[in-house]
Amino acid sequence: MTGKRDFLSVTDFTPDEVREVIDLSIQVKKDRSVHNLLEGKSFALIFEKPSLRTRTTFEIAIHELGGYPIYLAPGDIKLGKRESVPDVAHNLERWTYGIVARVFKQSTVETLAANYRYPVINALSDIEHPCQAIGDYVTIKEHAGDTKVKLSFIGDGNNVANSLMLLTAMLGGEFTIACPEGYEPNAALIVRAMDIARETGARIRIVRDPIEAVKDADFIYTDVWTSMGQEEEAEIRRRVFAPYQVNEELMSHAPKHAKVMHCLPARRGEEITDGVIDGPQSIVFDQAENRLHSEKGILMFLYGLKI
Ligand code: CP
Ligand code: NVA
Repeated sequence: MTGKRDFLSVTDFTPDEVREVIDLSIQVKKDRSVHNLLEGKSFALIFEKPSLRTRTTFEIAIHELGGYPIYLAPGDIKLGKRESVPDVAHNLERWTYGIVARVFKQSTVETLAANYRYPVINALSDIEHPCQAIGDYVTIKEHAGDTKVKLSFIGDGNNVANSLMLLTAMLGGEFTIACPEGYEPNAALIVRAMDIARETGARIRIVRDPIEAVKDADFIYTDVWTSMGQEEEAEIRRRVFAPYQVNEELMSHAPKHAKVMHCLPARRGEEITDGVIDGPQSIVFDQAENRLHSEKGILMFLYGLKI
């Protein structure tokens, strides 16, 4: 495949390309019939960590586009242990037409991409979750009619926060994170987001007070306090993040029109209460639904497929 494109970071797309992928996703949502655009093509889904949404939606998306997904569970190939990452990539490129990989380290998806002749898609790493961010902006566009919004993230500056910060910068919106000191988004990506923001007119803010973050937000986002791979820090994180719970009291400071988002899975009673996640402002299952359509949009864009 000449001039292959990877999707390892949201910044692998230009802002115009992101808008195109979002619109493509909304378009394919209206027609679930099989398009056979990937007919005869097999895909390797490498997962070093568990997944409900990402695995299921990529399998269905590839199936509905006519391709064949092969799920490789954490224990199946023992990426980098049983065999080096470049060797795995060189084997897979003889049989498959794309890799979707959920990994512990961003460098692993980068090494896969450098040693594989077809597109590699980051299905979550320690640094980014770009497919989640695209799906979330599909949901935001459906609810707000626009992608230039005020998105406030409450909690850990993790992979999901990093991708949303960059994407909000690219789309010209306002990204505010309320987090404890020491739990900000990735430092290099903050610099990157601010550089992008200077060009797009976006605004990036880091605050400590969750009330300040929610008070004029259009969308309020949270995620787990302990991400996969950080389990040994769970106890200290529960203490550090306790003031950052998205609960009814915090929501009383938010505008009435504000919607609540969560990438899921949620630790109910930790970062979000039942009352909020099950309440009228929550759109978390719309987000989950849109993962399917946005995985299709991402695949169609990367493979240059037209409906
Ligand atoms: N939101 C998300 O990526 O969910 P999974 O971990 O279940 O794939
Ligand atoms: N930040 C979470 C997201 C899960 C979809 C994690 O990495 O575990």
